Amino acid sequence: MPLVSPDGCEVFVSKPMPEGPLGELTSRFRVAVGHPERPTTADELALACRSARAVVAMLTDRIDAAFLGRATNLKIVSNFAVGVNNIDLEACRARGLWVTNTPDVLTDATADLTMALLLACARRLPQTEAELRANRWQGWAPLHGWALPYGKLAIIGLGRIGKAVAKRAQAFGIEVRHSSPDAKSGDAMGVQGMPLDELLAWADVVSVHCPLTAETQHLLDRTRLATMRPGAILLNTSRGPVVDEEAVAEALESGRLGAVGLDVFEREPVVHPRLLAAPNALLLPHVGSATEQARTAMASLAAGAVVDVLEGRGPKHPVVKPG
Ligand code: GLV
Ligand code: GLV
Repeated sequence: MPLVSPDGCEVFVSKPMPEGPLGELTSRFRVAVGHPERPTTADELALACRSARAVVAMLTDRIDAAFLGRATNLKIVSNFAVGVNNIDLEACRARGLWVTNTPDVLTDATADLTMALLLACARRLPQTEAELRANRWQGWAPLHGWALPYGKLAIIGLGRIGKAVAKRAQAFGIEVRHSSPDAKSGDAMGVQGMPLDELLAWADVVSVHCPLTAETQHLLDRTRLATMRPGAILLNTSRGPVVDEEAVAEALESGRLGAVGLDVFEREPVVHPRLLAAPNALLLPHVGSATEQARTAMASLAAGAVVDVLEGRGPKHPVVKPG
């Protein structure tokens, strides 16, 4: 079993991860593992990594210049996530570190969850089930249980996950268009690129799949949300800060948005109280990649990157390379 006490480890894994891949590390290195129940604090992380050569970081860990200044032996930051917005990539580059992530293996799981949110929001599953549980079901009726429209889906960010969602939606007969830096990236699958503002006005459902960067922070702000069709559905399985949560709560309350399906939030694990109070918000605790298959494969990639770098090989999925 890995140590829980992080004293003098070579590799710090900031949260327990699936055992097989963790064993790849514990059989080779002195490994310490963070607390099972809560995120590692910034101080604990720096202390645990003071002599470490590698860290397997979670998306809750801030890897910034202050941390790097205290982790002077570090060779690699192996992020247990595809998104790397928790890492100051420039600071890592300046220090000559490897940074790696876990792409591909969580694409299907995240796309499946996005479809689950789409259908649940459109068919109003949370409210409908709540009615039944509250004993308010009076029997079948022609005017009961209208769906929101979902025939036109806008994908913001047609990367690996965006494309996997598009493919699934097309199989449902949904028309898909996108807005991405490369407007032609969907041509091969019949997904037309459009300027963001036109796309928002066109869609019944808008689904966010871009990475969080300085450019995409609050990409969907109050002004942009106001250009969406009245009664439209908004889905986010990427990163919370891409949408302005306060503005989303307002748009739900005013009926401007018909429903939202959110797996990510601006200040996780805190969820905006006005979203918690909205019956037309379906809210999940960041579980896009939470299948056993995906998480085990992510752990294999994260552990494999550490083994590769500490044994002098190049890792499979570099985000930053030294030199
Ligand atoms: C999860 O959100 C990830 O980026 O892998
Ligand atoms: C992330 O894996 C993406 O490119 O969508």
